Amino acid sequence: MVTKKIELNIKVNNKDYKLLVSPNKRLLDVLREDLGLNGVKEGCGIGECGACTIVMNGKNICSCMVLAGQAEGAEIITIEGLTGPEGELHPLQEAFMETGAVQCGFCTPGMILSSLVLLRNNPSPTKEEIRAAISGNFCRCTGYQQIIEAVQLAAEKMRKGGVKVNG
Ligand code: FES
Ligand code: FES
Repeated sequence: MVTKKIELNIKVNNKDYKLLVSPNKRLLDVLREDLGLNGVKEGCGIGECGACTIVMNGKNICSCMVLAGQAEGAEIITIEGLTGPEGELHPLQEAFMETGAVQCGFCTPGMILSSLVLLRNNPSPTKEEIRAAISGNFCRCTGYQQIIEAVQLAAEKMRKGGVKVNG
């Protein structure tokens, strides 16, 4: 059966888009295929690994579990949106690099976006709060310790210097 396409109006990384897509297309595929935002990763495709995490209307969500038709009017941030206009890295991106929290990197965009939502709501999280915030994001490489250190370091950088780039 051919599904009639719908107009989808979304704001992604501060830019407005008007797209024509199937309402059943996953938001993950809209972002990767229609907008070329390949920082959004597909792991399990069933809402369990967190690789496809984005920020939608202020919350970290799995984009593999949202259909295009459910995203009308949404404001979305992907990992590409964290970098400043001159390529400046967000404190979270810097901290992940500085602490060795990135190995294969497949989980990293989702980890950083879940951490971003945490730090927006809680600028000084405890280790336990960080663990809870990233509990939906699986990492096969790092053992999580460096990731927790990275989020703590980013929190410190953000408290000291404010955030000069998006996010
Ligand atoms: S790809 Fe979406 S949760 Fe795994
Ligand atoms: S760095 Fe490889 S899955 Fe996390």
